[in-house]
Amino acid sequence: MSSIIRIQDLRFTEYVKPDEIAVRVSAIAKALDERFESVDSINTIITLKGAFMFAADLIRQMHTPMFIDMVKASSYKGGVTSTGTVTLSGFTEEYEGKHILIIEDIIDSGRTIHALLDVLKDKNIASCTITALCSKPSQHDIEISQEFVGFELPPVFIVGYGLDYREMGRGLPGIWRCID
Ligand code: IMP
Ligand code: MG
Repeated sequence: MSSIIRIQDLRFTEYVKPDEIAVRVSAIAKALDERFESVDSINTIITLKGAFMFAADLIRQMHTPMFIDMVKASSYKGGVTSTGTVTLSGFTEEYEGKHILIIEDIIDSGRTIHALLDVLKDKNIASCTITALCSKPSQHDIEISQEFVGFELPPVFIVGYGLDYREMGRGLPGIWRCID
């Protein structure tokens, strides 16, 4: 029997269970460690707020030495569709010559990733790798290696495991899909 939860005006049904998420997160951690096998250290950029839970679980399973940076990225203004403008704040690290790992919760229109890449493009970084818990490939043109993507989704709206609807639902251990 599938359960349904309500967050404000919307109903959600369970879509990806916590143990399925754990399996994908472990696989991504392993693939990323392999990707960075030959580098001394990496600089992660975690996009807040949505990626906090994915990043915490992912990083704890990785062995690559890393510096951790967090930036606040907002493009959804409390609704279920992305607004045009992305605001990024909180960059603190020097990135010149560094291997960057961007940790995203979900790539939807791709505007957030494009804005991040734009910030990094003049910084003479050594490399840039993107990992995302989810991606909605039909919505964007970002090229991202599938081994670093947790789940490829159709254009559905989801909450849980860090993701919100109007700031609610981030603490759910699984991923829930909107059915309204
Ligand atoms: P993009 O800039 O359109 O790629 O959107 C990226 C950001 O929008 C993500 O980092 C999320 O914070 C938010 N977002 C996109 N899709 C969803 C969703 O289905 N549920 C909750 N937040 C989402
Ligand atoms: Mg985000």
